[in-house]
Amino acid sequence: MGDTRELAEGYTLANDTQYNAGLFLLSRLDIQPGMHVLDVGCGPGNLTAYIARLVGDGGRVVGIDPSEERLAIAKSLPDRQLSFFQGKAEDLSRFESGSFDVVFVNSTLHWVQDQPRAMREFARVLRPGGQLGISGGSGDFVAIHERIKADVLGREPFSAYQEVEPPRFLKRAELEGLLEAAGFRERTIVVNNIVKKARDADDMIDWLDTSSSGKTYGGIPLELRPRARELMKREWEPFVTDEGIKMDMELLVTVAVR
Ligand SMILES: C[S@@+](CC[C@H](N)C(=O)[O-])C[C@H]1O[C@@H](n2cnc3c(N)ncnc32)[C@H](O)[C@@H]1O
Repeated sequence: MGDTRELAEGYTLANDTQYNAGLFLLSRLDIQPGMHVLDVGCGPGNLTAYIARLVGDGGRVVGIDPSEERLAIAKSLPDRQLSFFQGKAEDLSRFESGSFDVVFVNSTLHWVQDQPRAMREFARVLRPGGQLGISGGSGDFVAIHERIKADVLGREPFSAYQEVEPPRFLKRAELEGLLEAAGFRERTIVVNNIVKKARDADDMIDWLDTSSSGKTYGGIPLELRPRARELMKREWEPFVTDEGIKMDMELLVTVAVR
C-alpha cells in the first residue's frame, strides 16, 4: 500500500504547488555557488535540480528520500552535481557531521514520524552557521482536504482501519519547541498563505494521492479505496465553481541557523 511508479510519475506532473512553495523557501535561504546542500524528502528531484543550478559546477546537492519510485525519477536527472540516496530524515548517518551548508526540507516534514530525531539530525549534518530551511503545512490551520479525509475515513467500514503513518502537521509553537531542543536558537518562521487550485474533485484527489504516496486513504485496504474516493469526491462537489476548486492552505516557512 506504499508508493507506486504511477503515483510518483503523477506527482512530477502535478507538483506545481509544492514547487512554488519550494521556490518561496529558497528565496529566504542564502544558497551560493560552491555550497553543499542536502534536500531531505527530495521526491522526484525537480527542486533538487533547481538547487543544483544555484550551487553551480563547484557545488554539490544530495537528495534523500525513502521512496524507490520517486528516486528512480530523480536519478534520471542529468545535472552532474546531483546525487541521490534512499533514506529517511530520521537517520542521516550516511552523512558526516557538519558536512552541509544548507539543509532543505520542502513539503516533507509532516510525513516524518520521529520529528525530534530528524531535527537533531538536521543540526548534526549542518556546519556551524549553516542554514536549515523548512516549508510545510501548518498545524494551526486545518485545510479542507484534511477535514474531508477525517470525515470520510471516520465512517464505517473505513473507521476499522488505523492509519499507519499519519501526517503530523506541526503547530508553530511545536515547531519552535523542536528547533529550540535541537539547538537552533537563531530562527525566523513566517506564514505562507497559498491557494491550491484544481480543475475539479478528481483533479484535487489525484493531487492529494500523488503528493501523499497514496496516504489519502489512511490505512484502509486497496479494495475499499475506490469507495472512499467516491465518497470524498461527493464531499468536494460543493466546493467546485466555474473556475474549479480553490483551497486555502497555510504553510509555515522556517529559516534557522545552526
Ligand atoms: C510531497 S513530497 C515532497 C517532495 C519534494 N520535497 C517537493 O517539494 O516536491 C513528500 C516526500 O517526502 C518523502 N518522505 C516521506 N517520509 C519521509 C521521511 N521520513 N524522511 C524523508 N522523506 C520522507 C516522500 O517519499 C515524498 O517524496
